[in-house]
Amino acid sequence: MRKLAAGNWKMNGTAASLAEVQALIAAHPAPGCEMLLCPPATLIAQANWAARGSILALGGQDCHAKASGAHTGDLSAAMLKDAGAAYVILGHSERRADHGETDALVHAKAEAAVAAGLVPVVCVGETEAQRDAGETLAVIGAQLDGSVPAASTAATLVLAYEPVWAIGTGRTPTLEQIAEVHAFLRDRLTARIGAEAAGVRLLYGGSVKPSNATEIFAVPHVDGALVGGASLKAADFGAIVAALSAA
Ligand code: 13P
Repeated sequence: MRKLAAGNWKMNGTAASLAEVQALIAAHPAPGCEMLLCPPATLIAQANWAARGSILALGGQDCHAKASGAHTGDLSAAMLKDAGAAYVILGHSERRADHGETDALVHAKAEAAVAAGLVPVVCVGETEAQRDAGETLAVIGAQLDGSVPAASTAATLVLAYEPVWAIGTGRTPTLEQIAEVHAFLRDRLTARIGAEAAGVRLLYGGSVKPSNATEIFAVPHVDGALVGGASLKAADFGAIVAALSAA
């Protein structure tokens, strides 16, 4: 399995930020893992041009479940693919919270993404209240069952565990907590899609930074990271790429 370092720029970045893409590629021309950046959709085509000939893949941060039609302001998976995306993040907790996205909607979007030739990066994760209530595995298991298409394969799915309370807070679960969830995700995914689950990349996301990447990447069933804030600077994201390459 080729591990995956993925960056999610969220609603950050303008054309000036393409310098970071160029710096990342220049510093890591042949990393020992796959590199993915998901900038705002407005930058995918330009970032793809900047990344031409390099190993860097581009991705979107959301797509519509329909292929086309009267959906003002939305983007289809095929449009993202056309702009140069190979992946699309789906069901991020910020989409679930800000836009009321349900597991059923994320499932429909994932099917649309695969139909258009994109690999969905499906996100699951518990809130702090859910963790405190001892509901973490139940919540994540239900999200996985509801969001992941049963026909998924190792080539058509990436799964990201992002505890909501660790996103953008500087707080991370203990390594034992990450290990527990990732082992659970592998088992639950096997129950859902069968033997293909062994090859699906399971990413950890939530306050990953250069200083904690190495220890997180040593946790069993952590096959990469989904990085927010630290992906905005080539130096920081590059250090995480280097840590994953060495893992
Ligand atoms: P941070 O790395 O900023 O905590 O964000 C994580 C995230 O939400 C990536 O999708």
